[in-house]
Amino acid sequence: MCERYCEIFRISSRLYEEARKLFPGGVNSPVRLMRHLPYPFYVKEAYGPYLITVDDVKLIDYCMGFGPLILGHRPRPVLEKVREYLERGWMYGTPTEIEIEYAKTIMRYFPSIEMMRIVNTGTEATMNAIRLARAYTKRKYIVKFDGCYHGAHDHVLVKAGSGAATWGVPTSAGVLEEVARYTIVLPFNDIESVEKTFRELGNEIACIIVEPIMGNYGLVPGDPEFIKTLREVCDRYGSLLIFDEVITGFRVDIGGAQKIYNVRPDITTLGKIVGGGFPIGIFGGRREIMELITPLGPVYNAGTFNAHPISLVAGLATIRELEKGYPYEIANRASEEITKAIQDVATDCKIPIKVIRVASMFQIYFTERDIKNADDVRSSNVKLYEKLHKKCLLEGLYLTPSQYEVNFTSAAHDDEVVQKTIEILCKCLREISRS
Ligand SMILES: Cc1ncc(COP(=O)(O)O)c(C=O)c1O
Repeated sequence: MCERYCEIFRISSRLYEEARKLFPGGVNSPVRLMRHLPYPFYVKEAYGPYLITVDDVKLIDYCMGFGPLILGHRPRPVLEKVREYLERGWMYGTPTEIEIEYAKTIMRYFPSIEMMRIVNTGTEATMNAIRLARAYTKRKYIVKFDGCYHGAHDHVLVKAGSGAATWGVPTSAGVLEEVARYTIVLPFNDIESVEKTFRELGNEIACIIVEPIMGNYGLVPGDPEFIKTLREVCDRYGSLLIFDEVITGFRVDIGGAQKIYNVRPDITTLGKIVGGGFPIGIFGGRREIMELITPLGPVYNAGTFNAHPISLVAGLATIRELEKGYPYEIANRASEEITKAIQDVATDCKIPIKVIRVASMFQIYFTERDIKNADDVRSSNVKLYEKLHKKCLLEGLYLTPSQYEVNFTSAAHDDEVVQKTIEILCKCLREISRS
């Protein structure tokens, strides 16, 4: 099967040969090098639900830039606004008017955010949120959950998901033991372990940081009871609750996971969709906490590219489309139909599969276990996922490239694309069941 891949993606192969001399592993982010393929394919353009590779292969995309592209690739309304803005210059190092409309729009849907700081990545957002929580509470410990990924900085690269899980380095080398010691890692969806940890150490815990719907270890939704308990425990011990909604914000609902769970965090981090495909990160929350940020307060944050106007224009144009409702209808319907078809073929062929879906996100696990936490995900047959991924790719369907990532649908995944997807997926699953 690798021969066929190499035959189809010849130009990509040549580019990769050069790239591996220039970049570690030939890539600039680890999940771009897929473990089960000899080298990554290179993309030259994209539109709607499609990626076009340098080898002129057209792929239906379910990775969608790892989440930001809820309207699909190159959506007209975003393209037009960005083009229009570029004519005015694109970076001034001063405040811009669009910041005001942008922040007010985000706050309309995320009332827990009373004040925000706009940065460039989700990583920066969570790093600053944790620093802020420590400064506000004057405490050192933080609690995170096994499999949650909050970006690539020292305090959260302990039992992390995403590329860290895919490449088997959940706890990064180079993170000081002295730093990792203050990051307590607990099993996701396990109320008892949270209660126990807080009974022992509660008065020293600055915050809990959590993806309410874990989206970096495949897809693992938080039990509503679990999420509510996190809020209660934080209130009881004076710790802050940080919802990392870098993926779920504007994805699972226009008001994010916090609206679905009806739980108000103290600090929220956003990213991905709110930049409309351009770099972005936001951390924001209760005014009293946010007022500690520089230049108002003593918690330092700064950035040459903070609140980059092009990211804000693209993010705002995206949200304006989301407000119309149709993107959610199309994207959610697409993931519903695809997951239903997978489940049907799995039952038919007696393949032990669990399919988890939330709104326009889904993931497939080759396991009989219910998926409630990182251990359950680890029990699934990753090799079979990779086999399915490779088979689908050769048929023109690009599923998310790792068991530990999530498939995203978008407003561009219309009925025709969905039918084609189902056809390919079912064919590949049937082949796997026979092999
Ligand atoms: C939940 C979550 N938090 C934080 C991050 C880090 O965001 P970025 O890659 O923009 O630094 C990610 C990235 O995938 C994420 O999924």
